[in-house]
Amino acid sequence: MTSTPRPRAAVILAAGQGTRMRSSLPKVLHRVGHRAMLDHSIDTAQALGCDRIVVVVGTHSPQVRAHVEARLGPDATVVQDPPLGTGHAVLAAREALADFDGEVLVTYGDVPLLRASDVAPVFGGAGVSVIGFEARDPGAYGRLVMRGESLEAIVEAKEADADVLALSLCNSGVISAPSRLLFDLLDKVGNDNIKGEYYLTDVVGLARAQGAPTRVVMADEDAVMGVNAQSELAQAEAVFQSVRRQDMMEGGVTLIAPDTVHLAWDTQIGPGSVVEPFVVFGPGVQVAENARIRAFSHLEGATVATGAQVGPYARLRAGADLGEEVRIGNFVEVKNVRLEPGAKANHLSYLGDGQVGAGANIGAGTIFCNYDGFFKHHTKVGPGAFIGSNTALVAPVEIGEGAMIASGSVITRDVGPGDLALGRAHQQSKPGWAARFMDMMRAKKARAR
Ligand code: UD1
Ligand code: CA
Repeated sequence: MTSTPRPRAAVILAAGQGTRMRSSLPKVLHRVGHRAMLDHSIDTAQALGCDRIVVVVGTHSPQVRAHVEARLGPDATVVQDPPLGTGHAVLAAREALADFDGEVLVTYGDVPLLRASDVAPVFGGAGVSVIGFEARDPGAYGRLVMRGESLEAIVEAKEADADVLALSLCNSGVISAPSRLLFDLLDKVGNDNIKGEYYLTDVVGLARAQGAPTRVVMADEDAVMGVNAQSELAQAEAVFQSVRRQDMMEGGVTLIAPDTVHLAWDTQIGPGSVVEPFVVFGPGVQVAENARIRAFSHLEGATVATGAQVGPYARLRAGADLGEEVRIGNFVEVKNVRLEPGAKANHLSYLGDGQVGAGANIGAGTIFCNYDGFFKHHTKVGPGAFIGSNTALVAPVEIGEGAMIASGSVITRDVGPGDLALGRAHQQSKPGWAARFMDMMRAKKARAR
């Protein structure tokens, strides 16, 4: 049988209250790998080629609605009010998909680990396809009741007898079906059950009753994990991290102590790079090849070019842009500064809002004084310039190519190329003064005893 792939749509359920999170932040906006769980679900739907995505939200979380609309546009949400169950939630998307004819994927906003490769096999069926998994602890999951190779029914744990509860094959909640079939079946779903809800899971039994095919596609339990409480969020994060670390290592990155490295969903690190123990990557970091990120460094929104070295104990913030072979050493913070190739800031500095030319050397304790309490200003250090230790560069200020700044200077005016600037008190030396003073004080102390 050959057939052209049918169009795909996704309905993502996110109308539940998520009260077990005990947080004022809506559940689906909690982050895994620094990305909202709901965005992971949307990413997966997009990766699967769903050209229509409808997120079902509740009235209680305008924040979720705003979040989705900011990403997908105003037509991407429908409100389910009041929430009367998962089947009722999918029906809320019917009107938004009225002109859609193809396969509908139903998934949740709180299953952040589900990847496109886990879901892909659920498409292509003629009837209802369900992603199932073998549960270590089946608990409250719906049970998949099989007859031979086909799925007979999904029974919610609350409705199940002892025989059904003993089954470990469980419903992930993710299903797909042709759009017409799905909405026809949902019309027939009732709420005569313990929770008084319209269960999406009832579409399976109803499909069987009218002779439509039903099947289970298996997935790994870790992949379908749902998050309902903070402890499960932490578990999901742990699984996410171990998957990302594995990806990194397969991509040729050396992680000396992988379990101590924290990655974000979008962290990119080139092959041959080494990440030492206890490094944290926030969102938006790109590291090229053969770079070294040394222990205890924290990076976010930063770009690190080939051969650069960062840390130990460095902090790169948004807009830190390190050229090739740049060195950023211990206790150096960089924000919104481009460092051209070979520039160095090895110790104890703050570089904020500026640029540093190729090969320039920023001495220990240099501060870019970028903020006057009201506005941020720019500092420019020319190529090959040498900034002596403990210098304050009061922005806006420009240091010319190859200029030198004497250590301890407070620089408030531009310095020309090749010039030397000293901005510090003149030193006075008094020969023998200290020795005479100490003798006098020692004698005074002896008399006082
Ligand atoms: C559901 C399944 C169960 C499955 C489990 C997997 C049903 C009836 N049960 O149970 O078989 O094993 O997921 O985790 O489908 N939601 C709405 N509107 C509603 C109700 C729920 O949008 O009216 C959303 C929730 O926000 C959540 C998802 O649907 O994202 C699942 O709802 P939840 O109440 O957690 O279902 P479970 O009881 O866990
Ligand atoms: Ca749930």
